[in-house]
Amino acid sequence: MGKDSEVSKIIIFGGTGYLGKYIVKSGVLMGHKTYVYARPITPHSSPSKISIHQEFQSMGVTIVQGQLDEHEKLVSVLREVDIVISTLAYPQVLDQLKIIDAIKVAGNIKRFLPSDFGVEEDRITPLPPFEAFLEKKRKIRRATEAAGIPYTFVSANCLGSYFVNFLLRPQERPHNSITVYGTGESKAVLNYEEDIGKYTIKVANDPRACNRIVIYRPQKNVISQLELISLWEKKTHQILNKVHLPEEEIIQLSQTLPSPENIPVSILHSVFVKGDLTNYEMGEDDLEATSLYPEIEYTSIDQLLDIFLINPPAPATAAFE
Ligand SMILES: NC(=O)c1ccc[n+]([C@@H]2O[C@H](COP(=O)([O-])OP(=O)(O)OC[C@H]3O[C@@H](n4cnc5c(N)ncnc54)[C@H](OP(=O)(O)O)[C@@H]3O)[C@@H](O)[C@H]2O)c1
Repeated sequence: MGKDSEVSKIIIFGGTGYLGKYIVKSGVLMGHKTYVYARPITPHSSPSKISIHQEFQSMGVTIVQGQLDEHEKLVSVLREVDIVISTLAYPQVLDQLKIIDAIKVAGNIKRFLPSDFGVEEDRITPLPPFEAFLEKKRKIRRATEAAGIPYTFVSANCLGSYFVNFLLRPQERPHNSITVYGTGESKAVLNYEEDIGKYTIKVANDPRACNRIVIYRPQKNVISQLELISLWEKKTHQILNKVHLPEEEIIQLSQTLPSPENIPVSILHSVFVKGDLTNYEMGEDDLEATSLYPEIEYTSIDQLLDIFLINPPAPATAAFE
């Protein structure tokens, strides 16, 4: 970053992924020289992977092709940037230790945001399969702190389009039925991915967020599953057939499904049955994104559903399908 007037250079690991793409685009739109560290394109690469590389190149993103175990390459590219953001997929969470090692050697990184972007993992104790998942993410937080790397840990709560697609299945009209997890009354937080992208670039550059946890909890996006369904019913003028999956059955599924299929049900239990995203108070030390950046007009859940009515964002090909 050097002088205050200089705009920071940002590298994103996992930038070609579902969440990463939004962060890369925000980095570019907000005027940062943006790099993506991605596995190389090969003759076996999917058309979607080739197309995202081309899209990034046309936007001026520098793509560095490499593997996470290429230590020298990592160190040398890190020396060109100021900020490291990781949105690596869940199976690669512990591979971030290799990024941490390279950051230590490079010695110039002003901020590291590991691949958190979900629940506030230091404050909840979910069912064992999700707990094991979070324990890996916590390991990365602790390794970052132990290495003395300046960090920001982000709790982005639910990725909004991702969960609207999963919970409401808006593309299916007419609908068969909708599953309601538990009573459907616990409050969750659903944030539009484009806003998560903007807030993430903001916090990564913000001295107030250095060595802090930032929680994305916009007031208008705190909503229960039943409220979400009712809002959608009003907008579509269609009453959905709601089938409740009782808490005991969800717990049982978390105990009987093989790994890793036992993780999504445990996440649903934490978020939509226990209400883990909202059942802790924000303390004086907590930073909240909308309070930090009141100038950003975020997309409310009501507006997000309008986006789905007009031009639905594509579903992710990920864990909940
Ligand atoms: N809060 C929520 O609602 C929510 C929902 C989903 C995800 N998340 C979190 O968001 C973060 C990113 O998840 P995501 O779903 O966006 O990830 P993703 O799309 O599944 O993957 C991100 C990137 O990881 C890289 N990757 C995949 N397999 C790899 C491998 N074997 N070796 C090295 N790199 C590999 C790929 O990049 P290249 O191909 O370019 O190398 C891929 O584009 C995770 O921490 C996840 O837990 C949160």
